[in-house]
Amino acid sequence: MQTLQVDLGERSYPILIGEQLIDRGELLACHIRGKQVAIVTNDTVAPLYLERLSNSLAGFQVTPIVLPDGEAHKNWQTLQLIFDALLAARHDRNTTIIALGGGVIGDMAGFAAASYQRGVDFIQVPTTLLSQVDSSVGGKTGINHPLGKNMIGAFYQPQAVLIDTSTLATLPSRELSAGLAEVIKYGLICDEPFLGWLEDNIDRLRALDQGALTEAIRRSCDAKAKVVGADEREAGIRATLNLGHTFGHAIETHQGYGAWLHGEAVSAGTVMALEMSNRLGWISTLERDRAVHLLSRAGLPVVPPAGMSSEDFLKHMAVDKKVLNGQLRLVLLKRLGEAVVTGDFPREVLEATLNVNYDALTQ
Ligand code: NAD
Ligand code: GLY
Repeated sequence: MQTLQVDLGERSYPILIGEQLIDRGELLACHIRGKQVAIVTNDTVAPLYLERLSNSLAGFQVTPIVLPDGEAHKNWQTLQLIFDALLAARHDRNTTIIALGGGVIGDMAGFAAASYQRGVDFIQVPTTLLSQVDSSVGGKTGINHPLGKNMIGAFYQPQAVLIDTSTLATLPSRELSAGLAEVIKYGLICDEPFLGWLEDNIDRLRALDQGALTEAIRRSCDAKAKVVGADEREAGIRATLNLGHTFGHAIETHQGYGAWLHGEAVSAGTVMALEMSNRLGWISTLERDRAVHLLSRAGLPVVPPAGMSSEDFLKHMAVDKKVLNGQLRLVLLKRLGEAVVTGDFPREVLEATLNVNYDALTQ
């Protein structure tokens, strides 16, 4: 097992990474203050892992809360189901909520923990690659609004993150690829040597090689932990973790939540950010194409949805958490391995980027 640390003073917490960890309740027990535990999961993950996790927590009073699966359910109505179950089972302020699932479950369970009785402890047990490398670390929690992705939520850090890499064995390959979009992101924004490592190992990752997966997860979590430790509330550098996300969130909202997976939308959005960085003269065409090729080898879409116009993009991009005083800011690349967050670009370059024929560009 490997252990990393998110350094946030008194709110610091460990990230534990290894195989078969969900059977090791002792790793969680030391982060649980009371007797009551609620495991929030969904109807896909529950049959796979709920019993094992519950059994490992013998001695605690465990309430399972099984939600409907899917991004389309990341909303107020589903959040209410968590509060209904907590109140019905008389969970008190010493309760610990455990999120068992992907990013949708982690974000919703975390938001429930942030607000139930004004805040109870929570632990992340992420079971998708995307949630293991990104969403379970850093304390962003929340739900979607029909007008904007992740628009309602709270910063709320977990007590611990337990990453059982064996759970990826049951993950559909499309979901694995979606997680690779966020892994590649770290190489693009802050770790150019990692990009080279990914180019060498992308086939092993897609074949679920445990050694390669553990290394990719460790390096990704290490990068994320450092960024979050430096800028928990996204006053600056944390926004670089949103490479491709402003374009990507527009795709998710426009297509209807769940139609495109989050990682897929981030991939196509990253291609658009690469193209814009190239048009601004910051990265070369060769660098742009190198990154696009890697995303494509990861099994990810590199072309935005057919039929989504530049007006569609602009409408949805205007509802982005990086918009400040009406100004749209984007995460772009100065070079591979160095990202900037900027609103200082000619509007024509953005419009030209939105009007590119991406089918032709990525041939
Ligand atoms: P997800 O939670 O929808 O999970 C993907 C699918 O895999 C679901 O159908 C799920 O039930 C299933 N699944 C989960 N684990 C499984 C397993 N081990 N075996 C088989 N099936 C399994 O999607 P995701 O990609 O994990 O997360 C995407 C969400 O995360 C989005 O809502 C996005 O906004 C959010 N997100 C949040 C942050 C953050 O910092 N909080 C960062 C990135 C993404
Ligand atoms: N996924 C972006 C962040 O955590 O800041």
